[in-house]
Amino acid sequence: MTDFAYLADELDRLRDGHLLRRCLCVDSPQGPVVRLADGSEKVLFCSNNYLNLAGDRRIVEAACRAMRDYGFGSAAARLISGTMRPHCELEQAMADFLGKAAALYLPSGWAANQALLTALPQKGDLVLMDRYDHASIIDAVRACPAEFRTYRRDRPQRLEYYLAQGHYRRRFIVTESVFSMDGDSADLELLVDLKRRYGAILIVDEAHGLGCLGAGGAGLCQEQGILDHVDLVVAPLGKALAAGGGIVAGPQVVIDYLINTARPFIFTTAPPPGIAAGAVEALSIIQAEPQRRQRLQDNAAYLREQLTGMGLDIGQSTTHVIPVLLGASETALAVSSALYEAGYYAAAIRPPTVPPNTARLRISVQADHSRDHLDGFCKALGKVLNS
Ligand SMILES: Cc1ncc(COP(=O)(O)O)c(C=O)c1O
Repeated sequence: MTDFAYLADELDRLRDGHLLRRCLCVDSPQGPVVRLADGSEKVLFCSNNYLNLAGDRRIVEAACRAMRDYGFGSAAARLISGTMRPHCELEQAMADFLGKAAALYLPSGWAANQALLTALPQKGDLVLMDRYDHASIIDAVRACPAEFRTYRRDRPQRLEYYLAQGHYRRRFIVTESVFSMDGDSADLELLVDLKRRYGAILIVDEAHGLGCLGAGGAGLCQEQGILDHVDLVVAPLGKALAAGGGIVAGPQVVIDYLINTARPFIFTTAPPPGIAAGAVEALSIIQAEPQRRQRLQDNAAYLREQLTGMGLDIGQSTTHVIPVLLGASETALAVSSALYEAGYYAAAIRPPTVPPNTARLRISVQADHSRDHLDGFCKALGKVLNS
C-alpha cells in the first residue's frame, strides 16, 4: 500500500501557512445571491457571472433544445466524430463577433491558451508575456519550445528592449486584456504600436473583457478600437458568457494549424453540444442587451468609489474586478470568513494565485447587484476591518 503521508504533511504545511483551499458547494443557480449547501444564503462577490447570464432562462432553454436535438454528450474528439452542428455554429458566431476569419472551440479557456501557446511559438522564437498573465498562459508558454521573458506592464521600455533584440525568428506578445486578479487593463494601443514597429504577433486573452467592455461587448480590444490589429484573441466563455469552453479566433491558417497540431484540441473529447448552443444564445444576448454592460460598469464605478472612500487599497483597478489588498494570507482568510458569517461570500485569494504578501479579496461585481447589496457589503467589510 502506498504511503501518502508525504501529501498529508504538505497539506499541513499549507494549513499552517493559511494557504489551504477548499471548495464550497453552491446549491442554487448562480446569481447575485446564492444558496450554499449548508442552507445559508450569501450575497456573492467572487463569481465571474458579470452579466448575470448564468441562470438566464433563454440560455438554459437553448441548451435544453440542443440537448433534445443532439443528445447530451459529443462522445468523441472533435477530429473523430465529436464535431456537431452547435460547435460549428458557435465557432462561426464567435469569428463574426470578433471580426476574425475563423475560430476554434476548445473545452476550456485553459485549453485554448494551452493549444495556442504550445503550438504557435517555435524554437528560435521569443514569447513576451506580462508578468501577471494568467496561469494558463504562463504554463503554456513555459511548455512551448520558444524562449520567453516576462515584462511589467508599467515598464513598457523593458518590453521594447526585448522586442529590439535581433536574433529571434518571430516575436509574440501575450497579454490579458483585463487582468484577472488586479482589474486593471492592458494598454493595448501601446502593444499594437510595438507589435507593428517590431513585426511581432499580438495575442490578447479577453477572459474578463468579453461581454463586459466595448460598444458591442467584444471586449477591451473593441473598447480601445484595436480589435482589427490584434492577431489572435483568446475568449474563455465561462465568465460573462456564463457558458463553458474557450475560443481562439484569428486567421484561418492559424486555426487550421491548431486543428492539425494542437494537442489540447486533438486529444480531448468535444464539449457537450448543449454548452455550445447555450454559448451561442449568450452571445446574442450580450449583443442585444448593452444595458447589462452599463449596469455592470455603473455598479463597478460605484463600488470602487465606496471602497477607496473607506481608505482601502484597490490597486489600479478600473473595472468590474476590484481587489481589496490585505497583504497577509491569514488576514485575507480571516476577513473572508468574517464576511461569510455576515452573509457575504468573497473568497480570499492567496499565493500562488497572487504574489506573496498581496493576499486579497478579489471582488467581482455583477450587473444585477443592487445598491443594497453593494452598500451592505461595504458596511460589513468596514465593520470586519475595524473590529
Ligand atoms: C485570463 C484567463 N485566461 C484563461 C482562463 C481559463 O479559462 P477557463 O476557466 O475557461 O479554463 C482564466 C480563468 O479561469 C482567466 O482568468
